[in-house]
Amino acid sequence: METTDLLLAIFHHILVFSLAAIIAAEIVLIRSELSPRIIGRLAGIDRAYGMVAMLVILVGIGRVFYGLKGWEFYVYNWAFWAKMAAFVAVALLSILPTMRFISWKKRVSADAGFVVPADEFAPVRTCLRAQMVIFMLIPIFAAIMVRNY
Ligand code: HEM
Repeated sequence: METTDLLLAIFHHILVFSLAAIIAAEIVLIRSELSPRIIGRLAGIDRAYGMVAMLVILVGIGRVFYGLKGWEFYVYNWAFWAKMAAFVAVALLSILPTMRFISWKKRVSADAGFVVPADEFAPVRTCLRAQMVIFMLIPIFAAIMVRNY
């Protein structure tokens, strides 16, 4: 149905732009000095990231099955699988930052003078940057996918 397809497309776009904004916010925050306030903010933003990512998956699956093209269009489309692989890579790269944000939040709650060790900070920043780079490949694959190029 055309209205379902339109609504799914609208939600899909809003959600993926939100996801990009959340990754960008995390990258900006991780650059600054990690005060207890910033650690709390990072942990909060990261929770939102998890929720938005889940919604992207649900709406994305909705588009595959309830979109106008039909699921067969996507399952035999290499760019669809490339897009899914990039999405999974972004999800895997988000695991370490999430674990660290939770751990830092716990440690800073127990000890207000807690300072994030450099060897824990640097890999988180690298993962976030890699996430953003791979995330930007997703709309490229999406554009190829819809045109069956
Ligand atoms: C499990 C995750 C996802 C699934 C299952 C999924 C699935 C889909 C589907 C079925 C379409 C419809 C294309 C059509 O009109 O035929 C679409 C379009 C699109 N998706 Fe996703 N998607 C997912 C995640 C993402 C993410 C994370 C992004 C981030 C940038 C994204 C960006 C786009 C864009 C930009 C389009 C429109 C492409 C165009 O019309 O040129 N998708 N997606």
